[in-house]
Amino acid sequence: METKNVGLRDITVADTKISHIDGKKGKLIYRGYDVLDLTKNSNFEETAYLLLHDNLPNKKEFEEFKKKLRDSRQIAPQMQKNMGNWRKEAEPMDVLQAFVAALAGYYNEEGSAKEISYQRAINLIAKVPTIIASWDRIRKGKDPIQPDYNLSHAANFLYMLKGEKPDKELERTFDVCLILHADHTFNASTFAAREVASTRAHMYSAVSAAVGALSGELHGGANLEVMKMLLEIQNEKNVEVWIKNKLEKGERIMGMGHAVYKTVDPRSIVLKELSKTLAKKTEMPWYEITKNVEDSTVKFMKDKKNKDIFPNVDLYSASVYYMLGIPMDLNTPIFAISRVVGWSAHVIEERFAEAAPKPMLYRPKAVYVGKYDGPQGCAYVPIDKRN
Ligand code: COA
Repeated sequence: METKNVGLRDITVADTKISHIDGKKGKLIYRGYDVLDLTKNSNFEETAYLLLHDNLPNKKEFEEFKKKLRDSRQIAPQMQKNMGNWRKEAEPMDVLQAFVAALAGYYNEEGSAKEISYQRAINLIAKVPTIIASWDRIRKGKDPIQPDYNLSHAANFLYMLKGEKPDKELERTFDVCLILHADHTFNASTFAAREVASTRAHMYSAVSAAVGALSGELHGGANLEVMKMLLEIQNEKNVEVWIKNKLEKGERIMGMGHAVYKTVDPRSIVLKELSKTLAKKTEMPWYEITKNVEDSTVKFMKDKKNKDIFPNVDLYSASVYYMLGIPMDLNTPIFAISRVVGWSAHVIEERFAEAAPKPMLYRPKAVYVGKYDGPQGCAYVPIDKRN
């Protein structure tokens, strides 16, 4: 027997109402709403409500939701004290994973299992930015900055990170980035969260597993690689030759291509505009270099391989984060600030879906290709008789 479904590609394992990708049309839908519509008209907090609840909130619901989020931003001082015991070189994603799991040790939510899941979702969405910003300050020998109740989710994170409040333009730029990354169907980290939730393990446990999955370079790490590439290229004049050399050696260009989108990734359209605007504001060269990377890759692939290739979400988000002044090794944690919404919504759907087919404990099979027991195989030999 041969393993047929390596990597579970093209296998459907659940019904979901949370998000949908149309890879041919280049569309991403959150609960029925086009993500491009949400980036124009909504904000991160409202999008989070939508993903968690299946509908946009009315005014009262939205005010209550925002208040709950703001009231939950602070993390226990003991957590920040414990962070001080970590090596300052520790990977931010490792710190995040550990302190997400640790939330269960600090907070005791009450109610039905479903109510507790919603409370934990709020706690996670509110506290993940505080964990990341606290760690960044602590590793640099600075005191963490307490959350500012009067700021939006996006502005508050930038404030806790840098110690100064962003202007409206920078706040909105980051807010839009958060909307764009909030969910993306059954990617590896979301599946990890759902898989853990299918055992009836709790929300913090499922989300810490998702953070672990996101930390891998095949998942959350691509935009860091894009920024390293841009820094290596340095000047837009170098782009064409640099790209040609890489592609002729059969290497891949980070930020280009996608497993599901076979046309332009809609998120990259928005991020391209944000990068362009930020480059003007900061007078930095990264938008122009990125655009040349896109154009040179598209041209080479078309001319030499007869293949159409498009930018993905990571190509332009790299320069956006860089120009926002975010340390490069926080790119993946920032992904988590947004994606924790999707993870939480998926954990709730996994645990409490009411319509058939109801989710059940994930238990795939593997094809055993190891040794067998018996005459030709393995019979136990005491240790002193082994060679
Ligand atoms: N640079 C150069 N060539 C690329 C490429 C890239 N970024 N992405 C795809 N290709 C080429 C491959 O070499 C492959 O050709 P081959 O079969 O002759 O080797 C072909 O295009 C495969 O294309 P496709 O089937 O559309 O993509 P995929 O599903 O195999 O790969 C990715 C999807 C995301 C893994 C791939 O595009 C990639 O590695 N991109 C760079 C990493 C990245 O940006 N990741 C973040 C994704 S959000």
